[in-house]
Amino acid sequence: MSDPTNPHIKERTTPQWALYQRENFWKQNEGTTPLFNTGKAKEKLSEGGWYYASSNAGMSNTHLANRQAFYRHRLIPNQLIDTNNRSTKTTIFNHSVSAPIGFAPIGINKIYNPAGEAAVSKVASELNLPYCLSTAGSTSIEKVASANGPGPRFFQLYMPHDDELTVSLLTRAWENGFDALILTTDTWQLGWRHDDVASSNYAFYRGFGADVGLSDPVFRRRCVADGIDPDVDVVAASTKWIDSVWHGRAWSWEKIPWLMETWRGISGGRPFVIKGIQSVGDARRCVELGVEGIVVSNHAGRQVDGAVASLDALERIAEAVGERIYVMFDSGALALGARFVFIGRLWIWGLSIQGEDGVRHVMKSLLADLDILMGVAGFNGVEDFNRDILESDPKNYTLMPQKNL
Ligand SMILES: Cc1cc2nc3c(=O)[nH]c(=O)nc-3n(C[C@H](O)[C@H](O)[C@H](O)COP(=O)(O)O)c2cc1C
Repeated sequence: MSDPTNPHIKERTTPQWALYQRENFWKQNEGTTPLFNTGKAKEKLSEGGWYYASSNAGMSNTHLANRQAFYRHRLIPNQLIDTNNRSTKTTIFNHSVSAPIGFAPIGINKIYNPAGEAAVSKVASELNLPYCLSTAGSTSIEKVASANGPGPRFFQLYMPHDDELTVSLLTRAWENGFDALILTTDTWQLGWRHDDVASSNYAFYRGFGADVGLSDPVFRRRCVADGIDPDVDVVAASTKWIDSVWHGRAWSWEKIPWLMETWRGISGGRPFVIKGIQSVGDARRCVELGVEGIVVSNHAGRQVDGAVASLDALERIAEAVGERIYVMFDSGALALGARFVFIGRLWIWGLSIQGEDGVRHVMKSLLADLDILMGVAGFNGVEDFNRDILESDPKNYTLMPQKNL
């Protein structure tokens, strides 16, 4: 367990996250208990929130493949390494951050807790981890910026088929301190998710998840033109919003130069990223177009069932273009070529269970877990996570399907 008087704490460039373990172990002495078990957090969700957050495309085969791919790789710990001054720090798009971990863009946070995106982005800034706001967020760009304070923060775009609206969103994002743009390309509409369909579980049709639009002057004009008062008929307005950004309208590569140029013009050249890349060909195309970063992601298995495991895609992509573009990934995959990872469902479980405190609890626990792992397995910095620290055996490590995976 971490000793709070350990002299090395003062020498470290990142906090002794590991002390969060001691804080929780100590609670019994004070007659209190830790907030909740971070290993079982998802068991505590309400049904609606659980369905939307846990559902995957089809029979969850790609979701399982994602997990199995992780299971095939094991860390090889090293002994008697002086890890006392280890650092979890890294940089992303010129921001120095506490760890190579960001808050993935996740829409409609208010279905999990009324505190929504404001609470999540506040915790991100406290921990000095980047926060990424979704176009399908349930809090306006301006309110998230104010809760997130110094940031860093990025804006995830579901691109409308209305260029004036896109420009308005990008301008608001930039003026409010969102200084990288992440275009998600794997979700022109939701994949077929049985549980959500069967339970008619679609918050956008209940008036949630349109706040980024409802607070936008261009979108408000579009509503009025259609005879919708966005302050009165929120269900009609939010339905129109989600029809504007999703619902089967695909973009193609030809539009990317326009978007890059527009964003760079507005932001003075800040990074542009594409999220949802799974093929080496698409990754190469991003390099050719001058895209600054890619997020290798299959939307946590929620879009194309039967698709390859994202971790396997990462290995191929990192090998092909890892030197030429900043490669990011969903969940922990630094040793297989990602420079940075985004975490999604974990903080949703925390938000659902205990709002802002729940988000803080799961993210501090994750940082403590990483810090402790580095301490006991002989890793001193993010740069130590590379292919050499892994053993991979596709035959012996099989994760069987389990209920509610
Ligand atoms: C409930 C839910 C909502 C999501 N909403 C968005 C979104 O609005 N925009 C987006 O780009 N990705 C969205 N994603 C995908 C995440 O950003 C990310 O790719 C993935 O969830 C990370 O994997 P993890 O949940 O296993 O950590 C969503 C994922 C979930 C589970």
